[in-house]
Amino acid sequence: VDSTLEGVNWIAAKAALVADQFDNGRSAEALQRSFERSQHVAIAWDDDRVVGMARLLSDGVCNAYLVDVWTHSSYRRRGIGAQMIRLLLAEVPGQHVGLQTAEAAAFYRSLGFGPQPEFYSRVVGTFLDNAANR
Ligand SMILES: CC(C)(COP(=O)(O)OP(=O)(O)OC[C@H]1O[C@@H](n2cnc3c(N)ncnc32)[C@H](O)[C@@H]1OP(=O)(O)O)[C@@H](O)C(=O)NCCC(=O)NCCS
Repeated sequence: VDSTLEGVNWIAAKAALVADQFDNGRSAEALQRSFERSQHVAIAWDDDRVVGMARLLSDGVCNAYLVDVWTHSSYRRRGIGAQMIRLLLAEVPGQHVGLQTAEAAAFYRSLGFGPQPEFYSRVVGTFLDNAANR
């Protein structure tokens, strides 16, 4: 697991996310931009193939937010996801780290996260309808 984006083929990464049904509609370029603009990233490799990704938004002071956490389905339950999250958390000591999940509660609980009720959110306009996704 690396903490840089060096060597990532974003077209292949986007195709892998689509094939694994974990794609939210970003173009390959927009996916790349999302990772490049995140303070901290984790990329899991099997030789030259990306098999896991995660990124962390942070203000560098008190608040951080985990996004786009994914391990390829044929590589799950081998500790890759946990390794990516630990790498990211090590970058933000003293910060409060949040995330939103529907299906990975057991994974996050195993890493020390607890639920925080009443999370509020909204989309501004139409999801992904912005200049960064063109
Ligand atoms: C959630 C996800 C990232 C976990 O990745 P992973 O590489 O399989 O995770 P790990 O192998 O590091 O799992 C660590 C621990 O988390 C828990 N865990 C992980 N997946 C689990 C599952 N499906 N059910 C129950 N517990 C699970 C277990 O305690 C596991 O330890 P163990 O295997 O020794 O029992 C992966 O399943 C995934 O990509 N899911 C689809 C995308 C997704 O839901 N991402 C999160 C969105 S916020």
